[in-house]
Amino acid sequence: MADGSVTLDEARNAVWSAPLESLDPAQPALFQQDAMWPIFDRLRAEAPVHFTEGGEYGPYWSITRYNDIMAVDTNHQVFSSDFLLGGITIGGGQQNFEPLPMFIAMDPPRHDVQRKAVSPAVSPANLQLMAPLIRERAGAILDGLPIGETFDWVDLVSKELTAMTLATLFDAPQEDRRKLPYWSDVVTAIPMPGGIVESLEQKLEIFQEYQAYFNVLWNQKVNAPPTGDMISMLAHHPATRDMAPREYFGNVVLLTVGGNDTTRNTISGSVFELNRNPDQYAKLRADPSLIPSMVSETIRYQTPLAHMRRTALEDIELGGQIIRKGDKVVMWYVSGNRDDSVIERPNDYIIDRERPRQHISFGFGIHRCVGNRLAELQLQIIWEEILKRFPEIVVVGEPKRSYSVFVRGFETLPVMIPRRL
Ligand code: HEM
Repeated sequence: MADGSVTLDEARNAVWSAPLESLDPAQPALFQQDAMWPIFDRLRAEAPVHFTEGGEYGPYWSITRYNDIMAVDTNHQVFSSDFLLGGITIGGGQQNFEPLPMFIAMDPPRHDVQRKAVSPAVSPANLQLMAPLIRERAGAILDGLPIGETFDWVDLVSKELTAMTLATLFDAPQEDRRKLPYWSDVVTAIPMPGGIVESLEQKLEIFQEYQAYFNVLWNQKVNAPPTGDMISMLAHHPATRDMAPREYFGNVVLLTVGGNDTTRNTISGSVFELNRNPDQYAKLRADPSLIPSMVSETIRYQTPLAHMRRTALEDIELGGQIIRKGDKVVMWYVSGNRDDSVIERPNDYIIDRERPRQHISFGFGIHRCVGNRLAELQLQIIWEEILKRFPEIVVVGEPKRSYSVFVRGFETLPVMIPRRL
């Protein structure tokens, strides 16, 4: 283009004509511009198990096809999540601080017993108890929104609802709820000038406040009879009650990030994609029974966690390549969800797909998301309440996307609600 910027076609052509070995999808700037798709398209077509030598995150394998991702995710005997080996993100092991133990970043048997300790908090029975509360809160949030004015959907709705739910899961005071998405953002932030944290020192200082806050909650729970929240479960369960404080904090970090970031970004993603696809929005308004399949389609399309990482414990062949013991292996869920050998018309957002839950956004195998039903429940309820109230939520500007190759989300999404029903 005359102004020096690059068109989508030019960017696509550049990717398809580059030497394969130069392809490096793990670039936060690409994700922030939503410009990583051509790299994944080419890798799935020509190098589905692909080695990147250099780049910001050092050498790593990219697994980009749906079935290969399943093969890695369900083979925890060979592909380890251990935090001591670098854990579950591509940047794990590269930070300048000791890695935090947490059960998502552990292998059996330690993983299994800790997962069991907190799972009852999101059991179907508990979700049934939480549903009326989530509905009441969703209604109150929506009733408080301005009409005819531009506002940030992320701040007023997505963060607010998921923060309330998470505070309930932790039995933390509701007035402290907004600390939770803030801390979650700090955990996943890459320190940079103008960012949510500007330096590693600042990040670690905020971690101290965060940890101190949760130590108080632990002390309250450990000295009281067991209750149905996750902190009480951790404090009383035989598998977790004697955990070192650092391991308790690691698990709190896992539950904070898992419990709000992902759902928050899917709530924002649903408004964004329904606006980009007005025919789908019209279909939903005409038939609210499509809400559950729209929710699953949005979880696929958004893929709120773009990847999970593993470390190979032994040499293994995959897709004609030899992955060596100690290699870093990245399962790009964001790419697997666009694999047209498994999902029909994967680049289209279709809210009444035949098999909407056939996505890979929650992972597979022993680490499959523990909170998947809670995420779906919150999304279903907010949309049931939206459709009762507003004929339309209109996206009125460009969203600001996260600078991350892990969290695929929206920092801001400007919207306007023209009128109530
Ligand atoms: C694990 C995605 C919501 C808690 C995971 C994994 C993914 C994921 C990809 C790892 C799977 C694997 O390695 O195979 C999502 C998405 C969500 C969501 C896309 C929303 C749309 C939630 C919620 C909670 C939660 C609401 C709150 C309780 C967890 C936990 C794990 C996990 C604790 C670790 C499980 C384990 O290691 O056994 N999630 N998640 N997630 N998620 Fe979620």
